[in-house]
Amino acid sequence: MARTVWDSTVGKKTVMAVSGVIMLMYLVAHVIGNLKIFFGPEEFNHYGHWLRTVGEPFMHYEWTLWLIRVVLAGAVVAHAVCAYQLSRRDIKARPSKYVHRKPQASYATRTMRWGGIILGLFIVWHVLDLTTGTVHSGGFQAGHPYQNVVDTFSTWYGNVIYIVAMLALGLHIRHGFWSAAQTLGVGSRARDRALKTIADVLALLLTAGFIAVPVGVMTGVVS
Ligand code: HEM
Repeated sequence: MARTVWDSTVGKKTVMAVSGVIMLMYLVAHVIGNLKIFFGPEEFNHYGHWLRTVGEPFMHYEWTLWLIRVVLAGAVVAHAVCAYQLSRRDIKARPSKYVHRKPQASYATRTMRWGGIILGLFIVWHVLDLTTGTVHSGGFQAGHPYQNVVDTFSTWYGNVIYIVAMLALGLHIRHGFWSAAQTLGVGSRARDRALKTIADVLALLLTAGFIAVPVGVMTGVVS
């Protein structure tokens, strides 16, 4: 049964929709947390510390954080694997016998594929930059995310990488939210306009909220 669902196109689309919603919920929480940077180093670093102690004393140090990381990593992998498999299916199913030019995927489909690749690469960069410090520009200081964020956005390439990724994120969410609603059966004639508006507003708020941080550092509001 599980095998049949997994093998079906609808099954894969459902996995993509559910994992997408999980990541979206994380991003809403993440952007709210990031905006705390405008309240100064003490509040932002305190928030970073809280992420590690949340759930105590029931949970041990970092247990909740690791639980979130595992769920999130699972969602990213499931989303990427299904996207890859659906793309392959789509390419194979294209009629090519009688046409001379290769039929192209739609603009939305291409945007989603390229956007997904950009975001996948971004997440790897981002974790190596601000969580492990491996590719961080200044001297990475564990426990001092405020200073680490300021360092990142004090380099031109840090700003370029993040801003390009955030624009890709906005486009990805705008179309992804809409597709997920259709797959999960939330869409209907009456609701489609409202769903499109929600997708637009959500994408705009998340993009603007995330981009506010590098802009804050570049303009000296955050320093
Ligand atoms: C300008 C935009 C962003 C800023 C300033 C930012 C900032 C940060 C910071 C400071 C951390 C480390 C937190 C800590 O260790 O205390 C972090 C972790 C993380 N961020 Fe972002 N972030 C941004 C955008 C994003 C986006 C768009 C995504 C996903 C697409 C994302 C996904 C993650 C993930 C997965 C982690 C790792 C969490 C962990 O395992 O500890 N971030 N971010």
